[in-house]
Parts: sequence; C-alpha cells; structure tokens
Amino acid sequence: MLGSLAGWIMANRASNIDRNHWTVELMGLDTGARILEIGCGPGIGIEAVLSGVPDCRVTGLDHSALMISQAAARHAHALKSDRLELWQGDLSGLPEAERFDAVFSSNVLQFIRNRSTLLEEVQSRLKPGGCFATTYQPRGSCAGAEEGRAWISSFAEDLYVAGFFEVQIRERLFGSVPAFCVLAQNP
Ligand SMILES: C[S@@+](CC[C@H](N)C(=O)[O-])C[C@H]1O[C@@H](n2cnc3c(N)ncnc32)[C@H](O)[C@@H]1O
Repeated sequence: MLGSLAGWIMANRASNIDRNHWTVELMGLDTGARILEIGCGPGIGIEAVLSGVPDCRVTGLDHSALMISQAAARHAHALKSDRLELWQGDLSGLPEAERFDAVFSSNVLQFIRNRSTLLEEVQSRLKPGGCFATTYQPRGSCAGAEEGRAWISSFAEDLYVAGFFEVQIRERLFGSVPAFCVLAQNP
C-alpha cells in the first residue's frame, strides 16, 4: 500500500514531473539516442525521454518490482512498440547488450552507498563521449538548498576523480527547494 502510494505521489507531484523533464532537457539528446534511466520509479523520467527525444530507445531500471510494474502499466504502448525495456534490479545485473548514449537518474543516487563502484559501472555502460546526468532535489520537512548544493558538489568531485570530463552543475527552483543536476561526459 505504501509503495503504491509513493509511486502515485511521484507520478503526480508537479515538482517531480518538472524535475525529470528538466533533467532530460539538460542532456540535449539527439534523435535516435539509446538512453538508460537508473531508478526509473513509476516511469516519469521515461515519459520525459519518450516525449522529448524523437525515435529514442529507453531502458528503465529499478530494484523495486512494484515500481517496474507501475512503469510498465504507464508505458504499455512503448513496451509493445519496442521503444522501451524495463529491468528489475540494480545496474550490475543489467545485461551488457549494448552501450548507451546517455545514462541519467533523478533523486536516486543519494541512496547509493558505494559511489565509486557505481561510477565505474556507469562508465562501462556509456559509449565514449556519452552523457551522464544525475539530479538531486532535497525532500522532506528539513530540506534546504545548502544540503542540495553540498551533495551535488561532492558528486561532481567524484565524477572528476572517476575520469568524467566537462562536469557542469545546474540549479533550478521547483516548488520551495531548488533541484541540482550534475552533467558529465564519459571519456
Ligand atoms: C525517489 S524514487 C525516484 C523515482 C524516479 N526517478 C522519479 O524521479 O520519479 C527512487 C527510485 O530509485 C529506486 N532505486 C533506489 N536505489 C536503486 C538501485 N540501487 N538500483 C535501482 N533502483 C534503485 C527506488 O526503487 C525508487 O523507485
């Protein structure tokens, strides 16, 4: 029940929808791009990609079976027409079929404990020069801009250390608290 409610909130909260669309716009992806979303939840980021990037193909990954089923119900047509595939699990379990033009996530990577392992996995899934973007918007009653700024700066430093380049941070207000996106290119 709580999981279903969380999925419904994520799918209907304006700041969540707008933050996902903003993240996808920032990546500036080309027609036909192959895109992976880590932690796709109920499929709001997938919606932003499918509607914003012509002829793209998307893989949505989430370790929650409930979230994968909500994303599947939301995007049944894209699944049938082979524009979308969904995987339950984490990045290390995703079959290594092909490399992506872009990998992104929104309000997910704050949950990842081993960031350097994650970044190695992201690099191995991206094409050379491929785009990585992750967005973070602090949530909850104590959420504030300073926490978000500190988190994204620390993530940007780790991207440099991992060998990503052209690392850039963007900030935009959604509701009362800003969201922060860090973008980087794979070597
Ligand atoms: C706060 S929700 C955000 C969902 C979606 N990105 C959005 O903006 O609507 C975080 C999602 O990340 C998923 N998640 C967290 N850690 C994950 C991991 N290591 N691998 C895959 N999914 C993960 C959760 O199951 C959840 O659906």
